[in-house]
Amino acid sequence: MRRLIAPLLMMGLVSFGKAAYADTEKLQTLLQRNNCLACHLIDKRKYGPKLNEVAAKYAGDASAVDVLAKKIKAGGTGVWGEDIMPPQPQVSDADARMIAEYILALN
Ligand code: HEC
Repeated sequence: MRRLIAPLLMMGLVSFGKAAYADTEKLQTLLQRNNCLACHLIDKRKYGPKLNEVAAKYAGDASAVDVLAKKIKAGGTGVWGEDIMPPQPQVSDADARMIAEYILALN
């Protein structure tokens, strides 16, 4: 029985890893399409906070998708310091929501 379980567990881990990687790819595509990469990278601080840090800050916060989707379009300041994120009216509601979900899934 144990011989069967180990490969199954490993397969589970491998496919989980692939799913996470695919989501990072999708997030990257959305960030590029909406001109976010000028200020944000996923794992390096640029002008704006790095996005895996954003994910960590809102971990377990049920309202975070809404809050971040709104902020992505409206911009703002004061959460990460004094730098200002300008409004991003080019972002569709659907993209803003998807980006927020993918950012939070970086956790
Ligand atoms: C001109 C630079 C700039 C651009 C372009 C920009 N951001 Fe930001 N972003 C910032 C800054 C600065 C902050 C920190 C604002 C604050 O402290 O409240 C920020 C904060 C954020 C946060 C965290 C919000 C919070 O309240 O914790 C998210 C998520 C985010 N940006 C996503 C995006 C996305 C998605 C795009 C592209 C559509 C984008 N940003 C484009 C500069 C930028």
